[in-house]
Amino acid sequence: MKIIKSVSDMSAEVARLREEGKRISFVPTMGNLHEGHLSLMRMANPLGDVLVISIFVNPLQFEPGSDFDAYPRTFQDDLEKCEAVGVDIVFAPTEPDLYPEGFQTTVEVTEVSKGLCGDFRPGHFKGVATVVLKLFNIVKPHVAVFGEKDFQQLCVIRRMVKDLNLDVEIVGHPTVREPDGLAMSSRNQYLSPEERRHATLLYQLLKRAREQFQKGEKRAQRLIADVQNGLSRDPLISVEYVSIRDRETLKPLGKTIDRPAVMALAVHMGKTRLIDNIFLG
Ligand code: PAJ
Repeated sequence: MKIIKSVSDMSAEVARLREEGKRISFVPTMGNLHEGHLSLMRMANPLGDVLVISIFVNPLQFEPGSDFDAYPRTFQDDLEKCEAVGVDIVFAPTEPDLYPEGFQTTVEVTEVSKGLCGDFRPGHFKGVATVVLKLFNIVKPHVAVFGEKDFQQLCVIRRMVKDLNLDVEIVGHPTVREPDGLAMSSRNQYLSPEERRHATLLYQLLKRAREQFQKGEKRAQRLIADVQNGLSRDPLISVEYVSIRDRETLKPLGKTIDRPAVMALAVHMGKTRLIDNIFLG
């Protein structure tokens, strides 16, 4: 496994691989790898000849006052995990290399970035789209895998690829969960043991909403209210949003769920922000 830390070395390596006709698959991450990330890598591996993953905690997507400094950095441990799942190249650029002095160009996927997390994390998706476009331009992957756990992010990336005619195939991977249903996240480790126990409620309520939907409840507001009430009864949980959206455009639906939809939520538990979602239809 190669570890490449500079943009110019990565570009040279990619030029060589492309020259040899190799197909490149790619999984961008911010490190602190868990089973969710590793599943994406296992999915990406057979999609190409060479599997590149990136580790970069992107300052551009952390809004002021958020947890950029506290974000867990576990590089050595991450490398061992990458090796074990068969990663060929770990690209771990430095901040000054990716954002040198004078850097000022950003990409904004205006509509899909609105609502849901976009309303509570101003500038976040602009930071994500910008770094992902930069990483695509450096790594030049044929295919890239993203998790459905961050569903709005996946929609933003798909829209950017379409709108800017990027020559990369985007593949979504289902959310990987702990045995009790909690979506895996680097932020779960911030939860106290008590918060961690209560956090299982998120997926329980989402599943219950999907069951009600499957039994015929198509009124969006009913399903949303049920989840909201369930969450607000828990003293450790404070709700940021619960919403049902069109699964492709993320636009709000009318009163009834009449097309493929996603129910998404975000909550705070103490200092920790958690998100989750489930497909309806
Ligand atoms: P990060 O949070 O490290 O996640 C990297 C990838 O892993 C993303 O595609 C995310 O959706 C996926 N992922 C995380 N937890 C998952 C889970 N439980 N199940 C399935 N997939 C999961 O997302 C980012 O980094 C950044 O925004 C990035 C795209 C790297 C740009 O900086």
